[in-house]
Amino acid sequence: FYSTGEQDVVVIGGGPGGYVAGIKAAQLGMKVTVVESRGALGGTCLNVGCIPSKALLNASHLYEQATEKMAGYGVKATGVTLDLPTMLKYKEKTVVGLTSGIELLFKKNKVEYAKGHGKITSPNQVEVTAQDGTKKTIQTKNIVIATGSEVTSLPGVTIDEETIVSSTGALSLKQVPKKMIVIGGGVIGLELGSVWSRLGAETTVVEFTPRIAAGADGEVAKKFQKSLEKQHIKFHLETKVTSVVKKPTGGVTVTVEAVGGSGFTGTLDADVVLVSVGRRPNTTNLGLKEQNIQTDKQGRVEINHNFQTNVPSVYAIGDVIKGPMLAHKAEEEGIAVMEYLKSGGGHVNYGAIPSVIYTHPEVAWVGKTEEELTKEGTQFNVGKFPFIANSRAKTNDDTEGFVKFLSAKDTDRILGVHIMGASAGEMIAESVLAMEYGASSEDIARTCHAHPTLSEGVKEAAMAAYGKAIHI
Ligand code: FAD
Ligand code: NAI
Repeated sequence: FYSTGEQDVVVIGGGPGGYVAGIKAAQLGMKVTVVESRGALGGTCLNVGCIPSKALLNASHLYEQATEKMAGYGVKATGVTLDLPTMLKYKEKTVVGLTSGIELLFKKNKVEYAKGHGKITSPNQVEVTAQDGTKKTIQTKNIVIATGSEVTSLPGVTIDEETIVSSTGALSLKQVPKKMIVIGGGVIGLELGSVWSRLGAETTVVEFTPRIAAGADGEVAKKFQKSLEKQHIKFHLETKVTSVVKKPTGGVTVTVEAVGGSGFTGTLDADVVLVSVGRRPNTTNLGLKEQNIQTDKQGRVEINHNFQTNVPSVYAIGDVIKGPMLAHKAEEEGIAVMEYLKSGGGHVNYGAIPSVIYTHPEVAWVGKTEEELTKEGTQFNVGKFPFIANSRAKTNDDTEGFVKFLSAKDTDRILGVHIMGASAGEMIAESVLAMEYGASSEDIARTCHAHPTLSEGVKEAAMAAYGKAIHI
């Protein structure tokens, strides 16, 4: 049940953007309904994105540790085998636990939950079509579009989620493929490529551009690629996929063509192909055209600095608007848009949004890369510290990677921090906070860090940016 009488705000989409927006609205005293069509809250992130992928990354990492490393620490486990159905069940249990948790949060905060497809039928009405086809219309002062993004493929390549899969299929493969080709060396390709590679698939990544992990600092991306190569993942950079053809006998032939000096031209065979070439905003049957709500060339809903579309009562947040497609970015926008609706003020600092690739080692960053600073002509200092010189990394026998600080030459203000290493995703939070407060590298360098911890590597890199590190 949900009310159709006038709400203060109706949010369409129950992902990290939409569900957080819903809870925040209720906390601010607004009458709010969240409309979600997939039958579960949490959106892409909790159902087929962040959460299941991280569960599989955790489980496959443990499998790799058990088969390759543990014996060296005197932990001898004999007959270690992979039980993929159990691994997938564990992933599913994690997902269900978290998505049902959001339903409880809705109840606790008095957020109404309308199960069905939402369509904007006027600037103050959202029509909800339930799975059985029944329709109801909710009256509302404001509407927030939080419909997220969906899988894209290459022209002429049809995803069947069994042999040619998107990230969704790659989270539920029934067996480990002998050979896997990953099209696109971005976040999804590297994370899910790592999962199946660790579980035994011979994995090859085909990437159009000359580098992997677009958006990461160039030096980090190069070292990261080397690290993944050591883990037996192969790369064809500057290589374009021209066709993906299913063989009648099973498996797939992928034809590729070099588009640069290091590229490869030829055919590659695989049992499973993962297509991970980016995602597109999801605005299917949302009523945008009918209501004249503007979108940009990439199909993203256009907004002003207050998340407001050209129709004043309609707002948009998350993957469906510009900016990085990240759960925590969507959440921040969900809070900001409701604060704006309540009081006219709401703000997201896009200069301090962290990015994390949850491989092993992890890669995490915030702020600008060395390439971006050079291009804009900013003078900067570089401070680096390798984990090989960090005592906790040594005790963990996990010394790959480094921390890189970029700070302004004149003021020492932190401009960017880039970490490759175990737990980089946890460690980056300190630098995000520092940037949020406009801190200098000296501020971090003079902050006491517990010993022995990996985060001492962050402190040492900060010391190196404004003076000298102690331990190298
Ligand atoms: P979504 O999460 O896409 O939610 C939108 C929701 O709206 C969906 O549930 C959809 O069913 C619903 N919806 C759409 N249209 C309608 C309609 N008309 N009516 C009703 N409901 C509708 N990000 C990270 O930050 N960290 C990660 O580790 C990470 N890992 C990822 C791994 C994978 C494999 C993928 C695919 C993505 C990952 N992401 C990650 C990205 C993250 O999932 C998205 O950035 C995030 O989910 C965006 O949130 P959102 O609320 O904008 O949209
Ligand atoms: P992406 O944009 O990260 O990477 C796509 C890659 O595919 C790019 O490197 C691009 O150059 C390449 N590419 C495009 N067309 C190609 C072609 N024809 N042949 C070969 N390569 C081609 O997109 P991805 O990995 O699909 O992820 C989608 C979104 O999901 C990202 O925006 C990301 O933010 C989000 N995500 C975030 C995660 C995280 O935060 N840890 C994890 C997974 C996804």
